[in-house]
Amino acid sequence: MSDAINASAVNAGSSTAVSAGGRLQWSNRLTFILAAAGSAVGLGNIWKFPYITGENGGGAFVLVYLACILVIGIPVMMAEIMIGRRSQQNPTGAMAAMAKEAGANPLWKGVGWMAILCGFLILSFYTVISGWTLSYTVTSLSGAFSNIAPDAAGAMFGGMLADPAQLLLWSTVVVVTTMYIVSRGLHAGLEKAINYMMPLLVALVLVMVGYATSTGHFVDAIEFLFTPDFSKLSTEAVLVALGHAFFTLSLASGAIMTYGSYVSKDTSIAKTSIMIGVFDTAVALLAGLAIFPIVFAYGLEPGAGPGLIFVTLPIAFGQMPYGTLFGTLFFVMLSMAALTSAISMIEPTVSWLVEKRKMSRGKASAVVGLILWTLGLGTVFSFNIWQDATLFGKTFFDAIDFLTANLMMPLGGLLVALFAAWVMKSNVVKDELGLGGGLLFTAWQFVMRFITPIAIIVVFLNALGFIKL
Ligand code: TRP
Repeated sequence: MSDAINASAVNAGSSTAVSAGGRLQWSNRLTFILAAAGSAVGLGNIWKFPYITGENGGGAFVLVYLACILVIGIPVMMAEIMIGRRSQQNPTGAMAAMAKEAGANPLWKGVGWMAILCGFLILSFYTVISGWTLSYTVTSLSGAFSNIAPDAAGAMFGGMLADPAQLLLWSTVVVVTTMYIVSRGLHAGLEKAINYMMPLLVALVLVMVGYATSTGHFVDAIEFLFTPDFSKLSTEAVLVALGHAFFTLSLASGAIMTYGSYVSKDTSIAKTSIMIGVFDTAVALLAGLAIFPIVFAYGLEPGAGPGLIFVTLPIAFGQMPYGTLFGTLFFVMLSMAALTSAISMIEPTVSWLVEKRKMSRGKASAVVGLILWTLGLGTVFSFNIWQDATLFGKTFFDAIDFLTANLMMPLGGLLVALFAAWVMKSNVVKDELGLGGGLLFTAWQFVMRFITPIAIIVVFLNALGFIKL
């Protein structure tokens, strides 16, 4: 993970291995896997996956999500890493260079633009939710979870949401911290620390799963997550599952393509993509196994929405021995996981301003931070004073979430798939992916040419009401 940040903070004075062409590179394959996994694992796995699974009825949704990861997410990830590595550039430059190489329309560059914009919009709410986790770190430390009753846990979360000043304070802390780190480049201490945090976060999730087995409702949770009941699956749920597959793997938002540009020639793109996809999925499923037993044991509502983990986990921490310690550690780790994802989301925009607009790194960070903070106000107020100010029945937060995860990311993924499988030359792609020249490559190409685009288009049209399946 540390070199992830090194490599992404290109102009920040960090040092890593350099390719023959002078491009920064990961020092080895493992650092790249950790980096990409660090970008992928974040609030998406632990906060978002459980609550959208709860909202969309469980098993059938999970199955569709797993299929999306396997058939769409991982192949698209391979394509993004390939485009980044071959072009050795940021997303807009990468798409332009690859289009040129293939003799295609220069407008393909727009895919890079959309990715950068999408990452930026995601970040505007990501910082606010990261603020919730920071706030909960402090709450946990104060011992407030100890023996907390389900009602009180709900009231505590509701109280936080109802207070815009508090939300604003925490999201400001997150924006300022993120921008400070991005503007300075990362210091060795933090980089090292992050290397320990990811494994520790996973260990803590496992502790939570362990606790969950003692609630007496573990089996109910397994049933909820893994027994598909297709009557509970709405057409919008399929779109949500598809969008989340992109979100959780950090696709179509510039990050993975940028990370790909630091990957060395001798790394197998196929193998690493599969490893990242499997790891990310495992973390999400474990988070589900930690949370739903508590939901069922205390008669909470699985479809409670974005507050799900903030209401369930304090109850668990309040019951378990050393709960204050574990709870504080957990929210610290989650805040760090969120922060590292946030940094990797912002880096493409800041480095674009620095490289193309010749801004100083400090100024670029300040400008971006200010815009982000302002946009973030929309999300902060979505949970209180603008709760009822809805657009197409969605609050500002819901609207940005829907626009990015359910429209921009699937569209970006669709375009990347079409580009990699139809526009780029087959022999180039074959050479890059590391799938060999045989059946595996043919299968990848078939999936990306037909299955991925058709699936995305059908899900789109269906969810938007143009066709009815
Ligand atoms: N994958 C991250 C998560 O699950 C969120 C995310 C979406 C992201 N797009 C990104 C992170 C781009 C970094 C870069 O929390």
